[in-house]
Amino acid sequence: MKLRMLLLFPCCLSIFLNGAAGRTITVGFAQTGAESAWRTANTVSIRAEAEKRGVVLKFSDGESKQENQIRALRSFITQKVDAIILAPIVETGWEPVLREARRAGIPVILESRTIKVSDDSLYATFIGSNFLEEGRMAAEWLVRRTGGKGNILEIQGEPGSAPANERRIAFAQAIAPHPGLRIIDAQSGDFRRSGGKEVMEAMLKKHGRDIDIVYAHNDDMGLGAIQAIEAAGLQPGKDVIIVTVDAIREGIKAVIDGRMNCVVECNPMFGPKVFDSVEKLLAGQAVPKVIYNHDELFDATNAAAVINSREY
Ligand code: AHR
Repeated sequence: MKLRMLLLFPCCLSIFLNGAAGRTITVGFAQTGAESAWRTANTVSIRAEAEKRGVVLKFSDGESKQENQIRALRSFITQKVDAIILAPIVETGWEPVLREARRAGIPVILESRTIKVSDDSLYATFIGSNFLEEGRMAAEWLVRRTGGKGNILEIQGEPGSAPANERRIAFAQAIAPHPGLRIIDAQSGDFRRSGGKEVMEAMLKKHGRDIDIVYAHNDDMGLGAIQAIEAAGLQPGKDVIIVTVDAIREGIKAVIDGRMNCVVECNPMFGPKVFDSVEKLLAGQAVPKVIYNHDELFDATNAAAVINSREY
């Protein structure tokens, strides 16, 4: 391949390099689905990085069903892919299929969500955010903002998923020393905007003006809740304090507009880290068991400074 061609088309360069290393890598990616804007950005990041490196990516959309993901993993094993990337919808129920992958000698990289297994060697590494840290950051911001007082509605993510479980646990632990902050109700909105709106509508009927604070496990559900709050004639961000997780561009915009108060970042753009690990594993090198992203928190003091550089 001519040097000029490689410089003009970087994807040709990576195909050339893979070829030089011996062969093209094929990777199966079992994504959860497309439940949120965060998830869509995560898919874009993984796909773009695969293309950049000349990796053949076999993509499967789990449509929010674990059985679809298990079926996809079995199909990747049958196709003898070099590695599998799994974004597990829920935490449990993975051991049998992970044992099948291990028997076939295929490393499994967990991305964006963790799992619970009795034997951690069933997967190679986890790459994503620390959800306990996110829940704690949200709670500590709220304590500072409210002085430790207020009735909270918690809109939770997908039941059984690691981010929903850990954001719930860490938040509850961090507000526990502040008895004036009470979770008066909690319900799942499945990480979907429509889910957040429906939960908020029902909770406004049930609790009326008793809800001072909404803690939503992602921005999409928080944005859905805002629609319901506005439809009820209330002002989100003022009559009801809104705290969420993800920090998608729309969430940060809502903070700047004063309709949301705080977003804790959960960055989805980690395709490069995922494929660095894939390549290391296939080269027989060790990778850390957990690779966390660095996440920040945005509120009225710093949201405007980051909006223009937000990729998602
Ligand atoms: O696993 C990460 C979570 O999944 C994100 O917070 C949420 O938006 C997504 O759907």
